Amino acid sequence: MARNWPKSFDFEGFNEPIGVEWSRPNLEVEGEIPAEIKGDFFRATADPAHVPTVEYDTFLSGDGMVSRFRIDGNTVDFAIRYVETARYKAEREARKALFGAYHNPFTDHPSVQGIDRTTANTTPVWHAGRLLMTKEDSRPYEIDPETLETLRSYDFDGKLKSLTMSAHPRIDPRTGEMFFHGYEADGVTSTKVAYCIVDKDGNLVSEQWFDAPYCSMLHDFIVTEHYAIFPVFPTIPDLERMKAGGPAWSHHQDKPSWLGIMPRYGKVEEMKWIEGPKGISAFHMLGGWDEKSSGSSLVHMVLNVTDTNTFPFIRAASGMDPSPADVRGDLVHWTLDTDNLEAGYTSKKIGPPGDMSRIAACNQCAEFDYGYYACYDPRVGPPIIHSVVGAGFNTLVRVGLKNNDVTTLGLGPDRAINEPVHIPSHQPGHEGYLAAVVDTHSTMSSELWFLEASDIARGAIAKVKLPFRLRPQVHGTWVPADEVARAKARQR
Ligand SMILES: [Fe+2]
Repeated sequence: MARNWPKSFDFEGFNEPIGVEWSRPNLEVEGEIPAEIKGDFFRATADPAHVPTVEYDTFLSGDGMVSRFRIDGNTVDFAIRYVETARYKAEREARKALFGAYHNPFTDHPSVQGIDRTTANTTPVWHAGRLLMTKEDSRPYEIDPETLETLRSYDFDGKLKSLTMSAHPRIDPRTGEMFFHGYEADGVTSTKVAYCIVDKDGNLVSEQWFDAPYCSMLHDFIVTEHYAIFPVFPTIPDLERMKAGGPAWSHHQDKPSWLGIMPRYGKVEEMKWIEGPKGISAFHMLGGWDEKSSGSSLVHMVLNVTDTNTFPFIRAASGMDPSPADVRGDLVHWTLDTDNLEAGYTSKKIGPPGDMSRIAACNQCAEFDYGYYACYDPRVGPPIIHSVVGAGFNTLVRVGLKNNDVTTLGLGPDRAINEPVHIPSHQPGHEGYLAAVVDTHSTMSSELWFLEASDIARGAIAKVKLPFRLRPQVHGTWVPADEVARAKARQR
């Protein structure tokens, strides 16, 4: 029998919580998954184990679940488990929700004051042979990549001072280093941001703190070969409203955005701030690069920007119409000159609006030719209920930066696509593959689709059938089989 979930799209239809841990080997495959695809596709999902204590709660409050497609050509196994956070364990013991509204500790039951309230539901991060489930409001949880068991809250062997680590670190494949930031580094509503560097072996070797122009939901950032860039958009916590038991985040259309830029190995005191347009927002950046080594001083960033916040629950809490159809945005290419930061940055539209963008892991922190992301195309049909951003993404987009070519794969009015992951190919000159979970709403079923990255318009080259629906994914990551094997060998 259905439980008494809040009556909102965050909890209905495909967003209805599932909360079942299961595994199944040898899933049915339609078509042929290329034999060279061998590895683990880890995914993060938000899925509340208990009915929320507040009616206005959001999809994003759900307990983290980590899932894994283990793929060896046409053999595919699947498993999904809860991330057993301190919060999950406390609520399992009590058999009910004890933590309150999203990002608002003032709404928690007194019995859980001081207990880590993260759900670790946003991104599975793989670095130095370690799998971390992250969420920007706390430190990550380490997961056993074989059993998906939760091992511990992870603080880099006691070295991390920041209370938070974002869900969007940047891993430079040329150095093996992981760069990450953590906003609200010393508590909710704080302007303190931590900027951290982890070496290729997983050691935290640098942690510096700086003050952002205001406390903001600083979700993602960009690292190039020579710079670290922190985009600050005016989605701001409202402390008084939080204390009164209301929603934490408001978006401020009248406040300027900012870009903070500093040398990637420099001191935070070198940070320079560039003021940008008011009211805009971007959650995810495809990536960025600089031309310093070629004698130029230009920095490039490619990101999905909207004219407001994309989350309906944040727009509603800000007194704005929460209709997803009202949001305007584009994929844009920003360019700034580090010798003339006073001039700000230029912005060029290069693709349709969308989100959940990905590039090949080998292109992180460097110039890239192709990016992939999901888009809601209103011409396909009315928004279907989906998360993480409201309207179901009904279109997959590939954008080529060199020739400014955009190709799309429309999925029709009954389907939504989750964030794609890029899988590299070993064949010279091959662009690789994309894999993404595609949900069909009329049958309430999910499939994992594989596509040729260079030819997404062709549609799926193989589909993995799932016996049960999956709640919409937040982010995912691809780990090649040889990396998993190396990590396993090190543990022995
Ligand atoms: Fe994200």
